[in-house]
Amino acid sequence: MPDNKLHWWQKTIAYEIYVKSFKDSNGDGIGDLKGITSELDYLKKLGVGALWLTPCYVSPQADNGYDVADYYNIDPAYGTMADMDELIAEAKKRDIRIVMDLVFNHTSCENAWFKESRQSRDNDKSDWYIWTDKPTNWRSIFGGSAWTYDEKRGQYYLHTFLKEQPDLNWKNPKVRQAVIDVANFWADKGVGGFRMDAVLYIRKPEVFKDGKPDAQDDMVAIHNMTVKQDGILDYLNEFKTKVISGRDMFTVGEANGVTAAELPQWVGKDGVFDMVFEFSHTQIDLPDEKNWSRRRSWTLPQWKSLFSQSQKQIEKLSNGWYPMYLENHDIARSVSHFLPDGAPRVQGAKALAALLLTMRGTPFVMQGEELGFVNVAWPSIDDYDDCYSKSHYEFAISEGYSKEEALEGVHRFSRDSARTPMQWNGTKNAGFSSSKPWMPIHDDYKTFNAEAEKNDPESVLNWYIALAKLRKEHSELIDGDYVDIMPYDEQIFAIRRENKEKKATILINLSSQTAFYDENLVKNAVQIAGSDGMSTKGKLSPYEAVVFEECI
Ligand code: GLC
Ligand code: CA
Repeated sequence: MPDNKLHWWQKTIAYEIYVKSFKDSNGDGIGDLKGITSELDYLKKLGVGALWLTPCYVSPQADNGYDVADYYNIDPAYGTMADMDELIAEAKKRDIRIVMDLVFNHTSCENAWFKESRQSRDNDKSDWYIWTDKPTNWRSIFGGSAWTYDEKRGQYYLHTFLKEQPDLNWKNPKVRQAVIDVANFWADKGVGGFRMDAVLYIRKPEVFKDGKPDAQDDMVAIHNMTVKQDGILDYLNEFKTKVISGRDMFTVGEANGVTAAELPQWVGKDGVFDMVFEFSHTQIDLPDEKNWSRRRSWTLPQWKSLFSQSQKQIEKLSNGWYPMYLENHDIARSVSHFLPDGAPRVQGAKALAALLLTMRGTPFVMQGEELGFVNVAWPSIDDYDDCYSKSHYEFAISEGYSKEEALEGVHRFSRDSARTPMQWNGTKNAGFSSSKPWMPIHDDYKTFNAEAEKNDPESVLNWYIALAKLRKEHSELIDGDYVDIMPYDEQIFAIRRENKEKKATILINLSSQTAFYDENLVKNAVQIAGSDGMSTKGKLSPYEAVVFEECI
């Protein structure tokens, strides 16, 4: 595929900002939009061209903004619409486009749409949500029943997540039009893309017919009963036609449940999105997502095959593209998640960075990932903010795990680990805020922060910057094919990226032992990057990553 056929978002790096935790400009301990604007040059240096903001609309923050009360306004804690316009404009000057997070499976219970809907069974918006007299036994993803009784209306409403997050009824064409209007409002502001939150759940089955379905397994019930229901693609095609078509922007769907084999319906020219975030490689260590205290062991060949399956599917599709990620605001830090306990942190983070930035697709970096952040391990469940961590903890206890075991699961998988405030420097509050941050800062901030790493040539940050530059200078890293050249190797992730002119070979040792490979693989190639400096062909030190290139 020649370079000039690619869209801007296929050639760039995307970066996720957890708005509440990125940078506080007014000293209230909460990150805000002006804070983001003040750090655009930092992001520019990292090679970022797309900036995904977690929801910053008006919200009571039951789920940190994923409960939207008003899609047309900015939450006062984060600033004003003028601040948003300024951010969009300042970013654009630096060739950075803003990506909005669209939360359309549900709203907040404080949203005017819901407030009206719950008034009666016959108001204008009475069927904008999913109401019933006969709740099923479905369990919400965040724990407890997926149905909550509303006194006012005298009926139960459905919520896939918290009871403060009632699900919209997409069957109603007025609802579909309302979310399309919201999306067009933001698209008209010139944003560069949308991330579509929890989007696989928008179409509900016909629950009320024939005395409908109690789930057998009441733990992940709602996921199983509502994910990817027949007809969902019609809704999303409508959205694509009425919002995205003809605009220079991209969509990426959060797709917990799309398999590699199903990708053709979901991405590419004939798919509903440009990209989807798959979950398989991030859930490889979780048997079923129910219980963080139960873990599954996995091997590197298994992990590599998950990437290969998706890459193979996507490569067949016209305009198919892959969003590569190892971290986001819902999962653990990658160093803590994918590397064995005790792995050397800086080398390990650099090895993962090499993978993130050389895979075929658009890399999505989570704030702090470029600095090698690791998980927090707070002493009590009460120290945690995340509702999902709390429900996991309680569930583990109810299954007979000890408090220590339940907490161990939280330490390993809590969403809070990716949400601690950004560490800008080694001063008080890590330069994030002039007052006490809304969430504690990781206690490693004196060593792991943007300023210290900027001045250290061996840092994770400088390796990221080098890799970002490498992608710009070596076109095969952007448009080249992807082949896993050593799929069965237990230590090395070996990637071949090849276009018409050049071939890059990326060799990453993801183990704590020296690893050996056939040096004929890179016989005529020269080294263009190395996490440990010059590398000896045929051999990799623990966590060493090296990139070779040759002309064809
Ligand atoms: C998505 C978000 C997550 C949120 C949930 C409910 O999974 O990424 O943070 O809690 O949807 O909106
Ligand atoms: Ca603030």
